[in-house]
Amino acid sequence: MEKRSFSDGSRSGGSKLIGGSRSFGRSGPTEESSSTESSGFTGKSGPIEVDFLLKNAGSLVTIKDEDDDDAKGLGLITDGSVAAHEGVIVAVGTTAEIEKAFKDGVFVLRNDATVFDASGCLVTPGLVDAHTHLIFAGWRAEEFALRLKGASYLDILARGGGILSTVRATRRASEDELFLLGMDRLDQMLLCGTTTVEVKSGYGLSTEDEIKSLRVAARLGREHPADVIPTFLGAHAIPEEYAGNVEGYIEVLVSEMIPRVAEERLAKFVDVFCEEGVFSVDQSRRILSSAKDYGFGLKIHADELSPLGGAVLAAELDAVSADHLVMVDERGIRYMAEKKVSAVLLPGTSFFLAMDRYAPARRIIEEGVPLALATDFNPGTCTIQSLPLVMGIACLRMGLSPEEVIKACTLGAARALGMEEEIGSLEAKKAADMVVFDVPSFHHLPYRFGANLVKGVIKRGKIVVKDGCLTYARSQPGTRSDM
Ligand code: NIG
Ligand code: FE
Repeated sequence: MEKRSFSDGSRSGGSKLIGGSRSFGRSGPTEESSSTESSGFTGKSGPIEVDFLLKNAGSLVTIKDEDDDDAKGLGLITDGSVAAHEGVIVAVGTTAEIEKAFKDGVFVLRNDATVFDASGCLVTPGLVDAHTHLIFAGWRAEEFALRLKGASYLDILARGGGILSTVRATRRASEDELFLLGMDRLDQMLLCGTTTVEVKSGYGLSTEDEIKSLRVAARLGREHPADVIPTFLGAHAIPEEYAGNVEGYIEVLVSEMIPRVAEERLAKFVDVFCEEGVFSVDQSRRILSSAKDYGFGLKIHADELSPLGGAVLAAELDAVSADHLVMVDERGIRYMAEKKVSAVLLPGTSFFLAMDRYAPARRIIEEGVPLALATDFNPGTCTIQSLPLVMGIACLRMGLSPEEVIKACTLGAARALGMEEEIGSLEAKKAADMVVFDVPSFHHLPYRFGANLVKGVIKRGKIVVKDGCLTYARSQPGTRSDM
C-alpha cells in the first residue's frame, strides 16, 4: 500500500512529503478538474476518472464548513455520495447531484471502480485519534486492581511501578514483537473507525529503546492501512537509571535523543509529560525548546493531575496542542485561545482513573480554543481504543453535544496533528477516508457507545473494513499477541 510519510512538524503547513510518497491534497492529481464546492462540479478538462464511489449514504457528515449553521458545522447531506480518484476525494454532494455529474460526462466511472452502497447508513470522515501511547509491551491489570483498592497513580509511579513497569517490559520486547502488538492494536482501532492515529514513544526511555519504538511506529505506518503520526515522548518519565538525576536525563534527551530522532526523521512531534514529580515547567521548556530548534512540532501533557502551568507553556512555545488539561486554569485557557493551541481532551482517562474531575471542555470551547478529543490509549490510565466510546463519555461527563464530539474526533483532531488540510472532513482534494456506521443519524454515535456500530471503513479510497470485518491483506496474520 502506498503511504504518505511526513517530514515537517510545522503547525499549519501540513506535511511535506518524502521518500517517494504520493501527495494528496492541493497538488494531487485532481487539481485541474476537481469540484470546488461540496455540491457543485466544475469539470474543466474532460471527465474525471472515478475509481471509488460511495453512494446513497442516508446521512453524510462532511464537516465541510466550520461556520456552517447546519447541525453546528457538521455539513450534513441527506442521501449523499462521495467520489474519489486515487485515494483523493474529487466530489461530495447529494447522490442525485453526483449521478447527474456522471450523466453529464463530468465524471466517468472506471471499469474496476469500487462502489460502496451506504443506503440507510451514517457516513463520517475517517476518525482521527490525536493522542495514543500505542507502542508498549505488558499490560498493567494488577495496577488497575491496586488503584481500585485506593492506591494513587502518581504514588505507584513514584514506587517504580506505573509507566516504569511498562518501560521494563518494552525494553525487553523486540522490534518484531512490538510491531505485532501495534498491528493488533491498530486493527482494533480501524474496526472502530479510526483511520489516522498519533502514536507516541515513551516506554523506552533510553536512546536505543526510544529509537526502537519509533522505528516500530514507522513500520506500522508503512504496513497498516491507518496513517501513523509519530511523536517522540522520551520525556515521559525519569528512567530508573537516572532516579534522582533528572538533569542527567534531560541532558541525554537534549544532546542525544532529540538530535538522533531528528536525524533519522522518526517523529513529527515532540511531547513532554509536564507533571508534578515528572518534568517541571522549566524542565519541559528546555526540552521542548530544543525540539523546536530541530523543527519538531510540539505537544505537551499539560495540567493533567496538577495545575503546573503546562497550558501556558504550550502557548508560549507555539505548541500545536496541549493535551489532558483536567486542571487547566482560566489563564491557561486564555493563552491557548490567543495562540490557537489545540486542546486535546482525553475524557477516557478521567473515567479510567475514576476521577471526579474532567477537563473544562465548555470553557475551552467558549474561549475559542480549537478542540480535539482522543483516546490516550495506554496500559496505565486508559485502555479505551474506540473514539465513539470517548464521544459518549465526553457527552455524558463534559456536557458536550453530539455535534461537538464528532467534530472534535475528525477535523478538530486533524488540526491537533497539523493535518487539517489533508484529513478530518469530506471535501474535494482531501483524503478519501470514511467510516460507514450502521445507524440512521449522527445522534446515535455517542449515544450507542456500548457496541461497535462500524459497518465499513474506507482508507484512501480502499475498503479496509467491510461488514464489521477487516478486509485488508495483512502481511503477518493476526497473532493474538496482544495479551
Ligand atoms: O497520558 N500521563 C502520562 N502518560 C500517560 C499514561 C502512561 C502510563 O500510565 O503508562 C497518560 O495518561
Ligand atoms: Fe497521554
